[in-house]
Amino acid sequence: MTSVTSLTDLVRQCLANALSATLPEAGADPLLRRSDRADFQANGILALAKKAKANPRELATQVVANVVSGEVIGEIEVSGPGFLNVTVTDEAITRNLAARYADDTARLGVPHAAQPGTTVIDYAQPNVAKEMHVGHLRSAVIGDAVVRILEFAGETVVRRHHIGDWGTQFGMLIQYLDEHPHELDHKDAEVSGEEAMSNLDRLYKAARRLFDSDEEFKTRARRRVVDLQAGDPHTLAAWQKFVDESKIYFFSVFEKLDMEIRDEDIVGESGYNDMLHETCRLLEESGVAVRSEGALCVFFDDVKGPDGNPVPLIVQKSDGGFGYAATDLSAIRDRVFQLKADTLLYVVDARQSLHFKMVFETARRAGWLNDDVTAHQLAFGTVLGKDGKPFKTREGETVRLVDLLDEAVDRATAVVGEKREKVGLTDREVAENGRYVGIGAVKYADLSTSAVRDYKFDLDQMVSLNGDTSVYLQYAYARIQSILRRAGEARPAAHPELALAPAERALGLHLDRFGETVAEVAAAYEPHKLAAYLYQLASLLTTFYDQCHVLSPDNAPEVVENRLFLVDLTARTLHRGMALLGIRTPERL
Ligand code: ARG
Repeated sequence: MTSVTSLTDLVRQCLANALSATLPEAGADPLLRRSDRADFQANGILALAKKAKANPRELATQVVANVVSGEVIGEIEVSGPGFLNVTVTDEAITRNLAARYADDTARLGVPHAAQPGTTVIDYAQPNVAKEMHVGHLRSAVIGDAVVRILEFAGETVVRRHHIGDWGTQFGMLIQYLDEHPHELDHKDAEVSGEEAMSNLDRLYKAARRLFDSDEEFKTRARRRVVDLQAGDPHTLAAWQKFVDESKIYFFSVFEKLDMEIRDEDIVGESGYNDMLHETCRLLEESGVAVRSEGALCVFFDDVKGPDGNPVPLIVQKSDGGFGYAATDLSAIRDRVFQLKADTLLYVVDARQSLHFKMVFETARRAGWLNDDVTAHQLAFGTVLGKDGKPFKTREGETVRLVDLLDEAVDRATAVVGEKREKVGLTDREVAENGRYVGIGAVKYADLSTSAVRDYKFDLDQMVSLNGDTSVYLQYAYARIQSILRRAGEARPAAHPELALAPAERALGLHLDRFGETVAEVAAAYEPHKLAAYLYQLASLLTTFYDQCHVLSPDNAPEVVENRLFLVDLTARTLHRGMALLGIRTPERL
């Protein structure tokens, strides 16, 4: 792998050298940032001058005198109270981009993180025997992007899909099915995936209704839970069928989402059953958890109910049953001690934040988490309808995820179809592009806002060709491919000797920032910043087209080659960046 030092790092290094030549004891960071006035601005001199009791402008002037300008730094000047404005040479920009272009590992010269670790990420965790709804979209989409970004950064990533496959509801379901064997009648044995799931979902709702209204059924259902937990073979087999059927359905939805979910990464709640007793024993013996009214509880000074009384995390109920918390605590032990994670990441709805706060704190008190092994919830907000309220169907029901995805693909196919003649697309291409554009639109809308915020699900806006949408980015990519196809004999080639137009410089400087953007995004789990980077890249490309013609007959051949090189690198960066978000970039659109 050929990793390329970014212009930012080169400039930082030049300035740091000049700084230590001026003030040897300083050992300082020039605090470089992007600037509107020049390519970069360094603000670090002010603090240094203060420490050295020197006049900041004078110190800045001395530093400038010590800067070796030439290869990278073109101009440098003191501004304001002692800032440095730095402009890099056109040649340095082109050389840097050429090195990125030459990286044949498709990493665009981006280095791996210096000290990668192992992250276990918990995402895409639907519940067995229930249809996936719009709420399950976010965990899957955000989690998938974070997996890709972390792996690109060099992290070892272990995926865990903590599906809801255990609990009292299964006693209820199995009992109901035993009593109403014809509700999933024989013809259902032949359907699978979406249709089977929709039948299961119906069954679930019917069972729930009976459970809530019929005390005797409730008692029978509860007895069934005990059978399930005791491993009664008939009950267990019925449960396994629910799980298997549901998994087939999950896979079909994830495939629709253009997302790879592997069976071996699905470790649902039931996967930790064998650990539950031990988890309780460890917590009780260490005094982290205490018995209170028969239940095993963990208390927190800052978690209180509306009445002012502390609300504990219940690890084991007074009837001996285990809940969500016991499973999550056991999963932490597994992930830390078996999977050897140093980071645990949970992509889960913000409404579960209190649960995770208590679970993480409990694990810290138990010594399973500490300063070196940490856990984070990547909490996300709610998907809202156009009216700003939680997204529901017109009938007030939660929206099925598959319906929503199908509609997105239909709309996108219509948008793509409008241009089919002009672009010359076959039926197959229109259908494929419709899927890539529609699913891309849904993912991008989710990923382009900060995860913790709620966002509005507005398909009209999502598939719009203008504005901050994935389609806009996909068109930017396809347009470059079209130019490259029309270039005839001309080939992309870097010409560092050429002076760059302002729009070329702006594009080039932004391309150089891809690596540092991905590193930041990986460190803070913030895919929306990658989306913002890509949108800006496409916008800079649009400005470039307005101001610089690529294939104009008036251009000297080397200008054509250099511009083809610039747009090709832009296309590769768009492609790579979109792929990190889990979004495809069709070649012709
Ligand atoms: N299945 C849960 C739900 O649908 C999400 C699971 C989150 N992960 C966890 N380790 N608790 O709400």
